[in-house]
Amino acid sequence: MPETELTGQPRKRFVRFRLFASVSIVVVFGAAGSARGAAPSLREQAARIGIQVGAAVNPAHFSEPPYALTLAREFNLVEPENVMKWPATEPARGLFNFEAADAVVAFAERHRMKVRGHNLVWSVHNPAWLTQGQFTPQQLSAILHNHILREVGHYAGRVFAWDVVNEAFDARGNLKHSIWYDQPGIGLAGGGSAYIERVFRWARAADPKALLFYNDYDVEGLNAKSDAIYAMVKDFKARGVPIDGVGLQMHIFNFDTHNLSSLPANMARFAALGVQVHITEMDVAIPIRTDGRPANLPDLRRQAEIYRQVAASCVAQPACTGFQTWGVTDRYSWMPAATKGRAGAGLLFDQDYAAKPAYRAVFDVFSNAPARSKR
Ligand code: G3I
Repeated sequence: MPETELTGQPRKRFVRFRLFASVSIVVVFGAAGSARGAAPSLREQAARIGIQVGAAVNPAHFSEPPYALTLAREFNLVEPENVMKWPATEPARGLFNFEAADAVVAFAERHRMKVRGHNLVWSVHNPAWLTQGQFTPQQLSAILHNHILREVGHYAGRVFAWDVVNEAFDARGNLKHSIWYDQPGIGLAGGGSAYIERVFRWARAADPKALLFYNDYDVEGLNAKSDAIYAMVKDFKARGVPIDGVGLQMHIFNFDTHNLSSLPANMARFAALGVQVHITEMDVAIPIRTDGRPANLPDLRRQAEIYRQVAASCVAQPACTGFQTWGVTDRYSWMPAATKGRAGAGLLFDQDYAAKPAYRAVFDVFSNAPARSKR
């Protein structure tokens, strides 16, 4: 069934709330979502409290009805997992291809969802023509400026927020060496965050209305890395450099939650600078079997409690306006490949699109929160 059929006449839909393999509750509801007798969706709960709830997506899966249906029903925000990155959008110098990314934006518009763009500047996963091109700083500067103008310009008015720069700091809070910073860089090598400032200014010029984010991992709590980002944002705000938000990725492995106790304080200090905070890439890895399913079912409860804690921290902080998971379903997740098959199943929906305890935890947090006005 093509995805577009999902927007047709009201039809029966279902979400299974399955706590353990042996216990399944099937909830059937109509297409109107909150219509009389229908189970409310996560996106309805999120909208009520003024939060965008999102998922990273791969448009190759839009033709799979459960994928498209779950995405459209439960989320009001999408972010391309890969198809807005350089290898997809500028596969050869000056040759732009927005076909796959356009499919994401079109899906979002059909289903009244917002789009986060990801990403414009990253030190890794760039195309070979770029990394092996032996360009001078002046050439690289022109290439990057052109890329930002073309991509952000292409989506002006349709992508509401961009991850302009991704993962530029190391764990000690130093800027990573990269093609954009100092290898050879865009002409500002050794100038600290000057190169980041420049691309934020280019992005603002390309779409003055889009929100501009800096996005990174392991910066959820108070630590050397988040301190460095805080200092950069503080400096940018003081000098009028355009920055609107900070993305806290929230990839959690090995139940390592040491960052979460200071998550509220970290969000609060960014809020005090006047920027928004988005949880941009949340997933909570648990040990999996060879078929990708959870190895130990009690882990689903532990996972749910982590989701509950993060969702509650976001809801409690008015500047936290976005809560996004790094995928829709455990069927498609970067985690198993990244852990050599050891861990995964980190999302809100399992491989069969059944809602997991983690879904219920986030849903409960959203539905119990007082409504807040939209920013
Ligand atoms: O599209 C090519 C395909 O043509 C080729 O045949 C195949 C061979 O390996 O590779 C495909 O590209 C892969 C791409 O995902 C699309 O599937 C890349 O190899 C692979 O490296 C890439 O991984 C992505 C990674 O970012 C690098 O871009 C992951 O899916 C994606 O989940 C991950 O996302 C990142 C965020 O952008 C930033 N934060 C961390 C997060 C997780 O690593």
